[in-house]
Amino acid sequence: MTTFGRALRDQWYLDPDVTYLNHGTVGAPPRAVIAEQFRLMEEIERHPARFMLRELADTTGEATEPSRLRQAAAQVAPFVGVQPDDLLFVDNITTGANSVLRSFPFRTGDEIVVTSLGYGGITLAATYAARSNGCDLRTIDLPGPGAAPHEYVERIEAGLRPESRMIVVDHLAANSALVLPIREIAEVCHRNGTLVLADGAHVPGNIALDIESLGVDWYTGNLHKWAWTPRSSGVLWAAPEHRDVLHPAVISWGLDHGLTAEFDLLGTRDPTAHLTAPFAIELLHSYGEGAVMSYNHQLAWWSGQYLSDAWGTPFATPEEMIGAMVSVRLPERFGSSADDATRLRDELDRRNIEVPVTAHPDGLTVRVSAQVYCDRDDIEHLAETVTELG
Ligand SMILES: Cc1ncc(COP(=O)(O)O)c(C=O)c1O
Repeated sequence: MTTFGRALRDQWYLDPDVTYLNHGTVGAPPRAVIAEQFRLMEEIERHPARFMLRELADTTGEATEPSRLRQAAAQVAPFVGVQPDDLLFVDNITTGANSVLRSFPFRTGDEIVVTSLGYGGITLAATYAARSNGCDLRTIDLPGPGAAPHEYVERIEAGLRPESRMIVVDHLAANSALVLPIREIAEVCHRNGTLVLADGAHVPGNIALDIESLGVDWYTGNLHKWAWTPRSSGVLWAAPEHRDVLHPAVISWGLDHGLTAEFDLLGTRDPTAHLTAPFAIELLHSYGEGAVMSYNHQLAWWSGQYLSDAWGTPFATPEEMIGAMVSVRLPERFGSSADDATRLRDELDRRNIEVPVTAHPDGLTVRVSAQVYCDRDDIEHLAETVTELG
C-alpha cells in the first residue's frame, strides 16, 4: 500500500522547496503523465499528417474504426458517469460553458442567473450571452462557508423568477471550495422551468462524479485539475433534449455530422492532453479504488479544523460540503481588502508557500488544496508561517 504525503513528491515536477497547497488552481500532472504525453507527441511527429488528419478525429461520423479521440472518450466516460458517445472534449470548462451559453436559443426577455459563488470568467461568459441575446443577468447571493446544504437550495429557489431561463451554478465552487447540493438545486430549478448549466471545474477526480444522475441540463468539468491530466483538457455533457442546438464555440469540419464530430476537430491543435486522460485516470486508480480522493478529503477536512484552531478563526463548514479543498478564515489582523489579500499571498510566496488568498467584506480566507503529495507537515508549516506574520 502506498504511503501518501511528502514521500510521493518526487513523482511530481513540483519544486521540492515549495509547500504547494494550490493544486486546484491549474492542476499539476505527475511526471508519469507528462512522460505519456511526450510519448504521444513523438507518435504524432512520426507521421503528423496521418495522425492528425486520418486517425485523430472522425469528422463525418462514417469511420468504421473509432478515432483516437473516441477511443480516449470511451475510457474517460465511466470516470465521469456518461455514455462514451455523449462525452464531448473541450479545452477547458471556460470553453465548455461558452459552447452552451453561445449556442442556446435564448429569447429576448429571458433571464440568465448566476450566483455570488460563481467563478469570474464563467460569470463574464454568462454576462456576454445575456448582453448579446437581449436577456437580463441576475446574481443570486449565496452564503459563504458555514451554512447548511439546504440553505443553498432554498436561496436559489427563492431567487428564481418565471423568466429565469438558465442558471449557471457550481458543483464545487472556486474560492469557497464548497461542494454544493447540485442534484437538489437542479430539482428546484426545473420546478421553476429553469435549465441548469453545472460548473464542475474542480469535480472530476476531486469527488465521485456521476453526471447522468445529477439531473442537470449541461455539465462541464476539467480533467486537468484533479484528474491528473495535462492542460488543457475539459469535458462537456448535454442532456439529450439539448443536443440538437448545441455547438462548439468554434465551428469547423464536423458541422452537421453529429456532436462528437463537431467537438472533436476544431482546426489544427495539440490533442495530446485529451489523449493522455485515460493514462492519467488509470494512474489515479492504481493507488486503489477511491484511495486518492479519500486521502485528499481527510487531509482537507483535518486542515480546516487544524488551521482555524491555530488561528482562532471560526470554522463551521459541514464535512459533506468539503471535497479535496477547504477554505479557512485568516486572523482579522491581515485585513479584508483585495490589496491585503495580494500582500499576504506575496508574503507567503516569498516564504515558498503557494496558497490562494481571497478578500471578503469580513476578512481574508486561504483555500488549501489537499493532494497526495501533501501531508499534515505542509499544513502545520502554513499555520506557523501565518502565525509568525503580521
Ligand atoms: C469554479 C471554476 N469554474 C471555472 C474555472 C475556469 O477553469 P478553466 O480556466 O480551466 O476554464 C475555474 C478555474 O479555477 C473554477 O474554479
